[in-house]
Amino acid sequence: MSRNIESHLSEDREFKPSKDFARKARISSMAQYKRMHKESIEKPHLFWAREAKELDWSKKWDKVLEWNAPDAKWFVGGKLNVCENCVDRHAEGSRKNKAAIIWEGELGEKRTLTYQQLQKEVSRFANVLESQGIKSKDRVIIYMPMTPEASIAMLACARIGAVHSVIFGGFSADSIVDRLEDSQASAVITADGGYRRGKVVPLKENVDAALKKYKKCRTVIVHQRTGEKVSMKKGRDYWWHQETEKVSSIHKAKAFDSEHPLFILYTSGSTGKPKGILHTSGGYLTGTYSTCKYIFDMNDDDVYWCTADVGWITGHSYIVYGPLANGVTQVMYEGAPNYPDFGRFWKMIEEYGVTIFYTAPTAIRAFIKAGDQFPQKYDLSSLRLLGTVGEPINPEAWMWFHDKIGGGRCPIVDTWWQTETGAIMISPLPGCTPTKPGTATLPFFGVDAAIVDENGKECKANEGGRLVIRKPWPSMLRNIYRDKARFRKTYWSDYSGIYTAGDGARTDKKGNFWIVGRLDDVLNVSGHRLGTAEIESALVAHPTVAEAAVVGKPHEIKGQAVIAFVSLKAGIQGDSSLETELRNHVGKIIGSIAKPDEVHLSPMLPKTRSGKIMRRLLKEIVTTGNISGNITTLDDPTVIKQLIKTVTKKSKS
Ligand code: WT7
Repeated sequence: MSRNIESHLSEDREFKPSKDFARKARISSMAQYKRMHKESIEKPHLFWAREAKELDWSKKWDKVLEWNAPDAKWFVGGKLNVCENCVDRHAEGSRKNKAAIIWEGELGEKRTLTYQQLQKEVSRFANVLESQGIKSKDRVIIYMPMTPEASIAMLACARIGAVHSVIFGGFSADSIVDRLEDSQASAVITADGGYRRGKVVPLKENVDAALKKYKKCRTVIVHQRTGEKVSMKKGRDYWWHQETEKVSSIHKAKAFDSEHPLFILYTSGSTGKPKGILHTSGGYLTGTYSTCKYIFDMNDDDVYWCTADVGWITGHSYIVYGPLANGVTQVMYEGAPNYPDFGRFWKMIEEYGVTIFYTAPTAIRAFIKAGDQFPQKYDLSSLRLLGTVGEPINPEAWMWFHDKIGGGRCPIVDTWWQTETGAIMISPLPGCTPTKPGTATLPFFGVDAAIVDENGKECKANEGGRLVIRKPWPSMLRNIYRDKARFRKTYWSDYSGIYTAGDGARTDKKGNFWIVGRLDDVLNVSGHRLGTAEIESALVAHPTVAEAAVVGKPHEIKGQAVIAFVSLKAGIQGDSSLETELRNHVGKIIGSIAKPDEVHLSPMLPKTRSGKIMRRLLKEIVTTGNISGNITTLDDPTVIKQLIKTVTKKSKS
C-alpha cells in the first residue's frame, strides 16, 4: 500500500451508558478501564493469570506466556479440558438445571437443554466418537445446520481432544473437498439436511459428493433433522440417534495440554487457497471467556443471543465456547431472519426475554429496509445490551439499532476482531466506554493495538494507516494449519514481531479506533470474508473462461457486492445465459455466498505491461462509472473505454 488511506467519516454524536447500567456493570468507569488496561499491557501475565484462574485446570501452568515471535505458548505446562469448563463445571454445580441452550427451529419447534442435559448429550456423543476410533488430534469435519447438535458435536470433539473444523452449511461440496484434503480429516459429522427459508439444504448429499473425491474419511455421523431420505453407506455412515442410544451418558474427560489444538477454521485470504486458522485450548478459552464476561457483561440472569452461524468464528467464540464457559443461558436459532417475515428476531426476543443481542450490520441494514413495522409489533424491553460484528457499521444502521431495537437505553458494543484473533480485540466496555456510531472504540484488556504507516511508524490521530497488534494475546491463532511459512508471511512479515490484521483504520483524538476495511484483496460481503482470488479461480475453472478479475462494489445491504469481469476463451460467444451459468458455477464451486452479483463479459481485461490485471481500475469503474487516475501503466488504454461502456450499459438496464 503506497497511497495514503483516507477516512472521511466524522461523527459528533456520543452516547454514555446510563448510571444504572454502569452501576451494575463489572467495569463501571473509564478510570477503572484505563487502570486495568495499562496493567494488562505492562504486566500481561498478571492480568491473564487472574482471568485463567477463573477456569478449571487439572494442572496449573508453570508459565503464563512463552513468546518467540511469531510463536506463542500460553499457560505453558497447564492442563485442562475445554469441554468440561463449558459444560461439566456448570452441570455439576449450581447451574445444573439452568437452561444452557434454548433452541428454536425455523419451522417453530422449540427445545431447551439444561446444563445437565447438555452434559449428558455431549458425553454420549463423545462416547460415540471414541467408539468410532476417533482419537486425540484427529481432525473431524462438522457440516451441520444451526441445531444444538452442532454445538454438541464441537464440544464432544473438544472433550476427546479431537480437532474440529466446522464448515458453514452454505458451502458447496467442492469447498468441503478442499477442507477435507487440507485438514486430512478422518470423520465427518453432518445432518440429513437443514432448513433455510422453508427449503431443505441437502447437507448429506453434499458430503456424499465430497467423499467421492476424498477417500480418507472413515466415519460419517448423520444427525436426523429433516427426515428427508438420504443414502447411507454401510460401514461408513451412521445415524446420530442410533449410535447415541448404544452408549453411556457418562464420559470421563481427560485433561489436555493448554496448547493442545482445539480447532481449525478456514477463512479467505488474498490468494486462492483458504487458510486453516489453528486455535489451541487454554489461551483461546481464556480469551473468549474473559471477553464475554467484560464486553457482554454476562450474568446469571441474562438471556444471551448471538445470531451468527456456528460455521464462522463468531459462532465458535460467541455461541459455543465463550458463553458456555460463562454458564449463561443462550438462545439459538436455526433459520433465516426473514422467515416467515422480518419480525422473526423481534418475536423471539420478546418470547424468550433476551437481554443481550449480538448481530451483524448487514442484518440490521436488511431490517431497516424491511421497515419499522416489524420491530414495533413486539415488546423489546427485556434488552439491555446490543452488539455488532463483522464489518464497520454505518452510522444510520447504528442509530436505528440504538433507537428502534435498543429503545435508546441499551449500550451498543461494536466489536472488532477476526477469525485469526479468536476473540474480540477492540470494543467498548458497556458500563463505561462512551460510544459513537461507527467506531469500535478502544482495545480490550491485554490488546496493544496501534495504527502504523508502511514503515511501522505510529500514525498521528486521524491519520489513516494499518491496524497492527504489537503484543501477543491468549486467543491468537497459532498457525495456518501445516503452513508455517504462509503464517509468517501473511501476518508477521510486515513489521518484526508485530501482527498485521490486514485492515485499514485510524484513531481519533480520544484514541477510538475507526476501522475502514480490508487492505488486501478480500471482500466483506454481508460480513463474510471472501477472497477475490478464490472467486477468480472458481471462474477460471469453467471451460469457457480464459481470465477473470473480481472486485467489490458498495452495496446497500451486503456492504459489498461481488463483481466479476470475465474474458472468454477464443471462439466462444458469451450472452446473458452464460453470465447466469457463470454465477451458478461459482455457487457450485464455493457456495452461494460467493456468487457474483454482476458478471461482465469483456474480450480484454486492463493489464499492466508486465501482464498484471489492474483491479484498482476495475474497482473504480464499478464504483464511480469512470476512471480518474493515472492509466499510463496500462498496456492497452482502449480497453478502459470499452469496459466503462459495458458496465454503465448494464447498470442502466
Ligand atoms: C474482518 C474479519 C470477527 C468475526 C466476524 C468476521 C471485519 C469484523 C468488524 C467491526 C469493522 C470489522 C474486518 C476484519 N470486521 N468486525 N466491528 N468493524 N470491521 O470475521 O471473517 O475473520 O473477518 O471483518 O475487516 O478484518 P472474519
